[in-house]
Amino acid sequence: MTRLARPSRRVSLAGLLTAALLATPLIATTTPAAAQPQAASTPALIPKPVSQQALDGQDFTLKPWSIVGVASSAKESRAARKVADQLTAQLRRSTGYPLPVIPLVPGVADVKLSTNGPASLGAEGYQLRVDRSAVSVTAATPEGLYRGVTTLRQLLPAKADAARRQTGPWRVAGTTIADSPRYGYRGAMLDVSRHFFSVTEVKRYIDLISLYKLNKLHLHLSDDQGWRIQVDSWPRLTTYGGSLEVNGTPGGSYTKADFAEIVRYAADHYLTVIPEIDTPGHTNAALASYADLNCDGVAPPLYTGTDVGFSSLCVGKDITYSFLDDVFREVAQQAPGDVIHLGGDEAHSTPHSDYLTFVPKAAALVTKQHKRVMGWQEIAETPLPAGSIAQYWGTDDARSQELARKAAAQGAQVVMSPANRAYLDMKYDDSTPYGQDWAGLVDVKTAYDWNPSTLVPDLPESAVAGVEAPIWTETLDDLDKLEYMAFPRLPGVAELGWSQASALDWTAYKDRLGAQGSRWDILSVNFYRAPEINWR
Ligand code: ACM
Repeated sequence: MTRLARPSRRVSLAGLLTAALLATPLIATTTPAAAQPQAASTPALIPKPVSQQALDGQDFTLKPWSIVGVASSAKESRAARKVADQLTAQLRRSTGYPLPVIPLVPGVADVKLSTNGPASLGAEGYQLRVDRSAVSVTAATPEGLYRGVTTLRQLLPAKADAARRQTGPWRVAGTTIADSPRYGYRGAMLDVSRHFFSVTEVKRYIDLISLYKLNKLHLHLSDDQGWRIQVDSWPRLTTYGGSLEVNGTPGGSYTKADFAEIVRYAADHYLTVIPEIDTPGHTNAALASYADLNCDGVAPPLYTGTDVGFSSLCVGKDITYSFLDDVFREVAQQAPGDVIHLGGDEAHSTPHSDYLTFVPKAAALVTKQHKRVMGWQEIAETPLPAGSIAQYWGTDDARSQELARKAAAQGAQVVMSPANRAYLDMKYDDSTPYGQDWAGLVDVKTAYDWNPSTLVPDLPESAVAGVEAPIWTETLDDLDKLEYMAFPRLPGVAELGWSQASALDWTAYKDRLGAQGSRWDILSVNFYRAPEINWR
């Protein structure tokens, strides 16, 4: 199954320019105001930008002869050009216009994309202006340009995201926007262990989460039910340990080529892949694959149920560390980001003293690969290397809050994934057909209505790196179910990560969220039409 839009056929630049020039009227004509369709209203953006003003009477209309100009330093030209190509590839599909991309010539281009903005915009910040004459997106980096173009896509009519040609007009309301993120870490986690998701399915998830300016894709690659990433030095991890999934259906795993394709696709959407190898618990798939990894030397059978907390690596055996050394080395080679997640959660079958011995040793094997350590909140019980990140997954309970503070007290950063708010696998209400409810029911408001910097009492605001919305897949075996659980809640967590605390307001957000429905219909997103939202 592939539901990704097919890339359009390549058209030569010369052909596009000719088409654009032929379509350009030699004498500009002004349509009388009375003949103009009603002015476009300023669309509701998610995440809400830092500032946005309407420019009344300054609507821009994309035309068959519109030209896209790109300005950048020589060093950034390929990346900036790629952002322009991604935008125009989609707009050519939906508008049918040629939309040639050229080096920016002031006065010629109708859509101006620049990475020559001031450094004060930051890595992800941008300015966007829409007026009668042009649309301009200005950033200091290709990443900032990408974020700005993401906003532009939401300013265009929803049908601009269609896979096939639609009829215009392609009006964009006049506006000026200045924008940059609140947090540097804005993630989504996908559990590909409990149920395996193909490269095509992961790409689809990337397409959808990147619409809301997330910048981290955390992949939960190993657990009791399956090992999903190729490790050449321990091949049975995937050939045997990856063969099944929950309920005993065939599983799967990513070859090195597959994983490289995911990493590349994520990078094209300005998402860094954070690979997670969960240790010392959640390891039955590895223990089943290699008897020597078990304290008693006996490999357990593969596991296809949904219990947690019954498996553990053997903390006292040397082979445990030569195994992890190999695994982290090969995973580090496959994931170019600066973070490896070593899990560390729910190690209920690891004696506590062993856990305290294990985590620093595993962490040292991660830093040996020149990567920062990330782990679930429990790792804060042990000394952590500089630059570590602890992931809070509490439910407002005192112990989880204490672990977050312990992480901060030793200089680690904290990523907020409160299970009773940000876990996208929790049911919306009692009638949700799948998902879990151990952390509570999480309706759309609950997922949105919290502040990452003040959720944990006495956690210094400076320790909070951002937010992440995990989706665990014990009960989710296909993409339709993933989409149903992630949408409409994921955009709310994304807004918590991007928008200023002062912008967060449920009543206003709810209205902006309703406007996303038409976009999801066009993108065939199987979203839950939460009854409290006015979908349009
Ligand atoms: C977790 O939900 N066990 C991190």
